[in-house]
Amino acid sequence: MSRTYGEYLRLEELLKLQTGFMKDESKLSNDELHFILVHQNFELWFKLIINELKCTRDILAAEYVEESNLPQAVHHMRRVIETFRLMSQQWKVMETLEPQEFLNFRDELGTASGFESIQMRVLEGMMGKKWIDGKPVGQEKDNGEKSLYEVTCSWLERTPIQGSTPDSNKDLEVVNNFIEDYLKSHKKVYPDNNKEAIDFLKPNNESNRIRAALVFIESYRELPLLSWPRKVISTLIELEQAMVLWRSSHARMVERIIGRRVGTGGSSGVDYLDMTTKYRVFIDLWMVRSILIKKVALPKLKNPEFYGFKGD
Ligand code: HEM
Repeated sequence: MSRTYGEYLRLEELLKLQTGFMKDESKLSNDELHFILVHQNFELWFKLIINELKCTRDILAAEYVEESNLPQAVHHMRRVIETFRLMSQQWKVMETLEPQEFLNFRDELGTASGFESIQMRVLEGMMGKKWIDGKPVGQEKDNGEKSLYEVTCSWLERTPIQGSTPDSNKDLEVVNNFIEDYLKSHKKVYPDNNKEAIDFLKPNNESNRIRAALVFIESYRELPLLSWPRKVISTLIELEQAMVLWRSSHARMVERIIGRRVGTGGSSGVDYLDMTTKYRVFIDLWMVRSILIKKVALPKLKNPEFYGFKGD
């Protein structure tokens, strides 16, 4: 079967879509064509990101996640990370639009704004609920789909802690003991600054298994069985970091082009965008960093053979 490059990529249709409100490309200024092209490029990247996030989510959503599937989850996330990095650079192309050049066609946008990007909201929804300083942001839209954060938490909750899994009948005791031992060690290193660790591991005075698992994985990271889980966690952090940096480079670009003007979508503009750089989804993964302790101070690992070492 013979097929051309253009047919395969449907370029004839694709390249007819840069018409703006005019519905006629020849009526557009060069600057506006540039503006449309850059936006459409971003929307195409969003499509890729949503797809890769879904693949990652589906791997981690399994009732039992085979260790051999974790590299594939990391692989999907790496593609998202590189795309965010590329998109952060892409603002530079937008910045070649001088402030006055933008003003020449800005009125025509009316209230249209990136604010209305449906794919952006889908992408955010795929990641999970957003928080600022411990408080949830916006209303949760439940479309029945699990977010990456939700499946990550369910997966983390099943982490073997000191060799114990949630299905073992002594699990609660083992986890409680681990938390108490860890808090004792933490207190030894930071005698005046123990509250954050207690609040993290025992919110409302109840042990939190997900957070205990995070502390466990981050603390005993050299154990063979934990090496892929810790890689998944580091990659999730890198992913959110790449997204935050992308948001903040958007704000810097906007500041350069429209200064302190309000946005076409009706927000305060740069101030609003700077506020969005404070959003965090993987809050526990960020928070655990504040309560880690040096390796020599850690409680003794129990059942090391469970994690792939022959014992000491
Ligand atoms: C001259 C170029 C641009 C300017 C001046 C600009 C300005 C703004 C402003 C002021 C907002 C805040 C909402 C509002 O009040 O409108 C916003 C939001 C947004 N913009 Fe842009 N933008 C530009 C280019 C782009 C491009 C190329 C994209 C890529 C799709 C984009 C994506 C977004 C998104 C997704 C939001 C929503 C952010 C959120 O609510 O978290 N913007 N933009």
